[in-house]
Amino acid sequence: MFSRPRTTGRSNLKSSAGTSAHTGPLTLPHVKPAVPTRQSSTVSPTLVSARKATIVSPRPAVAENTQAVRTSFRIALFSAKPYDRRNFSREVSASTAQVGVTIDYHDVSLSPSTAQLATGADAVCIFVNDDGSAASLRALHAVGVRMVLLRCAGFDRVDLACARELEMPVMRVPRYSPAAIGEHAVALIMALTRRIPLAYNRVRQFNFSLEGLQGFDVCRKTVGIVGTGATGRVAAQIMTGFGSEVLMYDPFPDNALAARLSSFGRASYVPLNEVLERSDIISLHVPLSPATKHMIDAGTIAKMKTGVMLINTSRGGLLDTAAVVEALVSRKIGYLGIDVYENESEYFFEDRSQDMMADPLLARLVTFPNVVITAHQAFMTDEAMLSIARVTLENVETFLGGHAQGHANELAFNKSA
Ligand SMILES: NC(=O)c1ccc[n+]([C@@H]2O[C@H](COP(=O)([O-])OP(=O)(O)OC[C@H]3O[C@@H](n4cnc5c(N)ncnc54)[C@H](O)[C@@H]3O)[C@@H](O)[C@H]2O)c1
Repeated sequence: MFSRPRTTGRSNLKSSAGTSAHTGPLTLPHVKPAVPTRQSSTVSPTLVSARKATIVSPRPAVAENTQAVRTSFRIALFSAKPYDRRNFSREVSASTAQVGVTIDYHDVSLSPSTAQLATGADAVCIFVNDDGSAASLRALHAVGVRMVLLRCAGFDRVDLACARELEMPVMRVPRYSPAAIGEHAVALIMALTRRIPLAYNRVRQFNFSLEGLQGFDVCRKTVGIVGTGATGRVAAQIMTGFGSEVLMYDPFPDNALAARLSSFGRASYVPLNEVLERSDIISLHVPLSPATKHMIDAGTIAKMKTGVMLINTSRGGLLDTAAVVEALVSRKIGYLGIDVYENESEYFFEDRSQDMMADPLLARLVTFPNVVITAHQAFMTDEAMLSIARVTLENVETFLGGHAQGHANELAFNKSA
């Protein structure tokens, strides 16, 4: 596949959302051939020697038998925004890998009907609302794509069983900046408790009235953190620092975390029901899976305190949104802060201000004064964006070195994913 002439990746397929463009090829100086750099010294000797080899295959298993000389690795990056172009271009330029990377940027999202845009690409790079279904993966495979690069942590939209069947490694960026997400959850909490969006809009109209702006202290409140992986522990630590009592639930509790937080505040693991029943604020930090879909529904909401604040920065599908709207109307839920929404793929990341809002749940949510919605922006910090680009390029190197399978960032062949 690599010895054949490459197209630009811009097929005749028309994009309704705009144009496609490409960078490069850019020579990645990531590995100066014989002299390991600081970065290269962190990878295994096998990988370094694999990088030195000029014979590279998209299928690690046949790498030794391939006669083609690789000079460039082509990525079709879907759902490309100006900030993706900026951050990826910067990292490609700063990188020092041996194989040149060319990125074709496509504004449209990946779907079975846009997969053809990846013709000529070795890999696709996709984001949270791209369609990684079996139909998309098969369409990608048919045009020669051999790898999926997720520029995010969540992988709920990729059919991993199909990827495995097609022998397409799927690599993600599991930890680009947990602080960005955990801090955003806390930003939503504080925006709601201190009614910042309401106050901001008032002052811009020279309305300096305080009526209706009374909030509450989070100090000494009980905060439930559901999921204490990378992002949940950041939120737990910050809330402990605020002087809140933090109740944590995770099927795999981290006792060292509990001990560390307890050394400067009040934090402990408790059963999920206790988190639901005792918390004034509940923040979700859980991946979306069949087991966690609608984990917040009428049944779990019924167990919560009346007037509870619910925060979700993880995935929209964790909430049964219709049940949440009902609970907002009945005032069972007192505050809602969400960065993700169940049906967000239709709307988020796009300017829909000139359209009729066709989604009744989203339209309803926007009308509540005690609801703050951000459009999946928790990851949007300088640190996180550059880390996403850097780790994505490292994932390419891992793949080229024949080490994708078994790597912690790889999902399709990783039985624990
Ligand atoms: N809004 C954003 O911009 C953004 C950015 C990054 C990640 N995310 C989402 O946030 C999620 C969490 O991210 P993370 O980095 O903390 O993930 P992580 O994998 O580090 O941690 C997830 C934790 O959830 C726990 N868990 C699994 N099932 C659970 C359940 N039923 N109840 C309670 N806990 C459960 C796991 O044991 C794990 O400790 C990701 O899966 C992703 O979907 C959103």
